[in-house]
Amino acid sequence: SKEGFDHFMLKEIFEQSESTQNVLNRFIKGDSFDLGESTFSAQEFKNFDSVYLSSCGTAFHAAQVAKYLIEDLIQIPVRDEIASELAYSNPFITEKTLLIVVSQSGETADTLNAMRLAKSKGATIFAVTNVVGSTIAREADRVLYCQAGPEISVASTKAYTSQLMNLYFFILDWAKKLGKLDNSLETQLLSDLKQIPNHIESLLDTVTGYRELAENFIHCESVYFIGRAVDYISAKEGSLKLKEISYIHSEALPAGELKHGTIALIEPGTQVIALATQRPLIEKIASNIVELSSRGAEILSVGFEHKGLKESSDRFIAIPETSDYVAPILSIIPLQTLAYYVAVLKGNDVDKPRNLAKSVTVE
Ligand code: F6R
Repeated sequence: SKEGFDHFMLKEIFEQSESTQNVLNRFIKGDSFDLGESTFSAQEFKNFDSVYLSSCGTAFHAAQVAKYLIEDLIQIPVRDEIASELAYSNPFITEKTLLIVVSQSGETADTLNAMRLAKSKGATIFAVTNVVGSTIAREADRVLYCQAGPEISVASTKAYTSQLMNLYFFILDWAKKLGKLDNSLETQLLSDLKQIPNHIESLLDTVTGYRELAENFIHCESVYFIGRAVDYISAKEGSLKLKEISYIHSEALPAGELKHGTIALIEPGTQVIALATQRPLIEKIASNIVELSSRGAEILSVGFEHKGLKESSDRFIAIPETSDYVAPILSIIPLQTLAYYVAVLKGNDVDKPRNLAKSVTVE
């Protein structure tokens, strides 16, 4: 039941402080953490010499966020490939490859095909999924269950943040087993992760304001999302959320890429959403915002408190103070909620957008 919410999507958005808390309850043990059987041994981790990520849609975005953390902490190159493209991408997959797949349903045909292809080449498959006993869970070598609870709304929200939380713990475990996680970083990251549920709650406290923000988008033909580094992935996820339920065309771009073509489409009144949660890059994104503003674009920025960012933007949503690493788990919350209100104001069937199914079991 919707438990008093107008739609499952809004209910599921609001469940995110609880679903992220569940992940903490499962893994945190005193001052440290333990993933039990859902991970690999130090020896197994040592044997991987290449890492692939493959999935679809929102689940792919979760995997792409993980890529940044894996490369930073484990210091191993990671290749990410959309599942339906993996077979056509010259995959250099061997018996020493770890393939990570993420899937809410555990039944997505494209993801399953990518996984079977990698398996046929001898790779080890690690699956992050929400559905116990699903096909992907059964065929993977190791499974990490998200335990986000059933997700009814076609547009994925709590499954995404749960996938991220689970992936972060997996990567911490991996780094620790390879001796690549010093105590101070472990303490810092665990403390940041522990604060996620409270931070989500405080973001959701201001949710009524989003309805008003949403008014700015309902007559748009197109919306642009920009970000740098991992913020670009959040931009892609925000864009997907908006387009699938509001039916407004939207596009995500790495902020620096705009000037190589797409900026030609910016005219007075064009709505742009800028993600800015990576502190070393906030000045750069602020200057991209100035370029866009001078061409008449209206900017909503979502990021950490920053004078230059705030002053260059027309509207600003503050992300609670935390480390750059965990920011993607928070910055998506306003984008999900905004997409929701835009779709509601347009009178769309929010939980069952046209042409989409919750689980895509055809190629
Ligand atoms: C978007 C959405 C889809 C799914 C994708 C993969 O909101 O829900 O993009 O993320 O179809 O589905 P799963 O995670 O079930 O493999």
